[in-house]
Amino acid sequence: MRSSILLASLASSTVSAETVLGAYIFSRHGDRTAKSTPPTELTDLGYQEIFTSGSYYRSRYVASDASRRIHGIAPDIVKLSQITASAPVDNVLQASGIGFLQGLYPPVGETLGSQTLRNSTVIQAPMNGYQLLPLQVVQNGANSEDAAWLQGATNCANAQISSNDYFRSSEYNDTLARTKEFYANMHPYVERTFAEDQTSFKNAYTIWDLLNVASIHNASVALPDDADFFQLRTLADQHEYGLAYNASEPIRAVTGSIIAAEVTDALNGTITGKGKNVLNIQFGAYAGMLSYFGLANLTAASTDFYGVPDYASSLVWELVTNATVSNTSYPTADDISVRFFFHNGTTSNISEPVEFPLFGTGRSPLPWSEFVASTAKFSIGTQAEWCSACGNSTGVCSPAALGGEGASGALGTSSSDDSSGGHKGGISKAVAGVIGAMVTLGVILGLEILFFTVGGFRLVSKKRLARNASNGSGDMSGSGVETKA
Ligand SMILES: *[C@@H]1O[C@H](CO)[C@@H](O)[C@H](O)[C@H]1NC(C)=O
Ligand SMILES: *[C@@H]1O[C@H](CO)[C@@H](O)[C@H](O)[C@H]1NC(C)=O
Ligand SMILES: *[C@@H]1O[C@H](CO)[C@@H](O)[C@H](O)[C@H]1NC(C)=O
Ligand SMILES: *[C@@H]1O[C@H](CO)[C@@H](O)[C@H](O)[C@H]1NC(C)=O
Ligand SMILES: *[C@@H]1O[C@H](CO)[C@@H](O)[C@H](O)[C@H]1NC(C)=O
Ligand SMILES: *[C@@H]1O[C@H](CO)[C@@H](O)[C@H](O)[C@H]1NC(C)=O
Ligand SMILES: *[C@@H]1O[C@H](CO)[C@@H](O)[C@H](O)[C@H]1NC(C)=O
Ligand SMILES: *[C@@H]1O[C@H](CO)[C@@H](O)[C@H](O)[C@H]1NC(C)=O
Ligand SMILES: *[C@@H]1O[C@H](CO)[C@@H](O)[C@H](O)[C@H]1NC(C)=O
Ligand SMILES: *[C@@H]1O[C@H](CO)[C@@H](O)[C@H](O)[C@H]1NC(C)=O
Ligand SMILES: *[C@@H]1O[C@H](CO)[C@@H](O)[C@H](O)[C@H]1NC(C)=O
Repeated sequence: MRSSILLASLASSTVSAETVLGAYIFSRHGDRTAKSTPPTELTDLGYQEIFTSGSYYRSRYVASDASRRIHGIAPDIVKLSQITASAPVDNVLQASGIGFLQGLYPPVGETLGSQTLRNSTVIQAPMNGYQLLPLQVVQNGANSEDAAWLQGATNCANAQISSNDYFRSSEYNDTLARTKEFYANMHPYVERTFAEDQTSFKNAYTIWDLLNVASIHNASVALPDDADFFQLRTLADQHEYGLAYNASEPIRAVTGSIIAAEVTDALNGTITGKGKNVLNIQFGAYAGMLSYFGLANLTAASTDFYGVPDYASSLVWELVTNATVSNTSYPTADDISVRFFFHNGTTSNISEPVEFPLFGTGRSPLPWSEFVASTAKFSIGTQAEWCSACGNSTGVCSPAALGGEGASGALGTSSSDDSSGGHKGGISKAVAGVIGAMVTLGVILGLEILFFTVGGFRLVSKKRLARNASNGSGDMSGSGVETKA
């Protein structure tokens, strides 16, 4: 295949003489409980996955013997000015962030983790020198893992309209009709959570998510065979990609546009600060990843990018240079390039990130100026841009609010001077706690009604399924959903 030849040539071009000046990591959370059973929680497996990824990135960027060590980064005791980590207000993503950072900067032990006071008393840090790394809050995307469709958390009017339009597209209508019988056959497996008329392509992701979680955690649940399971997954991929990106309506991918701006902004900060802040890590949901894959035309590099990334997947943008970097000389932007890497699922030293060319160029690395220019075509980085792209004109988007101080401030994660609660930094403050907006999406409305009536998720046990099957299909409907107060 063309893409594999391309990748092979990319891999060999990554030479060790290169210096890594900084990196931006965007990571998905680890294994979690099902969306159908809110609130979602990170599981022990998920904790382990995300810790493993964090440990891998330590061995890649941070440790003194790291394979692609970031120039000047503190190897053992974290230097907080060098690293920025952020996650939305969300159980799963916050917990994932903490687990990842534990792997990135593990406890330093009794010797390093101690300080001598004025009176000569030596103080040991608790937990064998456990390091405390703050996690900043990304305000848009609050409670995102609890939402069945994460666009709801964006609060962007035009993006919600565009995503809703997916349910009126011919692609959606055709698939809904084509898979009617397939989902009818799948209903017995999910009948305790989804009514018969809800078991359709309309709920493709939540149906697959429910069974995927059960396939990992619950030995007594009956599952479809491998072929059907794969089919459910592929349909869920199609559904989510359709909601996340449409080439004719870029606003649908607004989350990806915001991530793109955050990445450029942070990497630019590394360059202009001459390596002061070098490592940025953000935790977020797969939907933003899919939107970015579409916007950055990664689907041209590999069709895998049409699929939902697995738990603990990560996207990485590296700033690299061949110029000399020393205490006294820092390369200029002209000497700096960007490499993009992706890893599907938990990253470890036996399964490392793979480099992909951005923007359908077939080339990597891209010169910094080209990366900036190509990203600028779709990034949304200021409150004013956001308001105009989203078609919002009230509240923080009213002319009065926009005319005020900080209207051109960056979106997304707030810098430390943003914590005062003012309007500076735009979206980050304004859009806090807005998941109420998600009910505009029919799919979610359907699910919420479901939670109220069903009151929790119920899968079908193997025994019960066998019993039902032997009773014939006649009494299968209705018997499944157990109403619980
Ligand atoms: C040294 O200072 C610490 C902190 O003020 C105090 O807790 C400790 O008792 C002092 N030790 C001695 C020997 O004075
Ligand atoms: C943007 O408009 C939508 C739809 O009217 C609304 O739900 C949302 O709250 C608005 N967002 C902001 C930040 O004002
Ligand atoms: C993508 O957008 C175009 C133009 O608005 C629309 O005609 C088409 O149905 C959309 N496709 C999907 C899958 O949403
Ligand atoms: C898809 O189905 C919906 C609802 O039945 C309908 O309103 C819409 O026009 C259909 N879209 C297309 C492109 O046929
Ligand atoms: C990078 O930061 C500098 C200084 O803040 C700013 O002038 C420049 O426009 C930024 N460039 C990009 C691509 O964001
Ligand atoms: C990730 O892997 C899954 C299979 O585990 C696949 O379905 C999906 O397409 C992949 N996604 C990406 C972005 O590579
Ligand atoms: C550094 O030089 C090597 C060998 O010429 C090349 O393959 C690589 O792409 C260069 N890296 C950058 C950032 O220009
Ligand atoms: C560069 O800076 C580091 C840390 O500040 C120091 O350990 C090292 O000796 C310096 N190297 C030179 C050549 O000045
Ligand atoms: C991978 O990591 C494990 C655990 O940290 C370590 O024991 C092993 O030697 C590493 N393998 C390679 C190939 O680096
Ligand atoms: C994506 O890249 C491919 C290959 O370069 C190109 O043919 C295609 O037009 C690009 N698509 C978009 C939307 O830019
Ligand atoms: C596994 O599934 C069965 C059948 O739905 C359910 O009764 C049981 O509580 C589940 N166990 C766990 C650990 O979720």
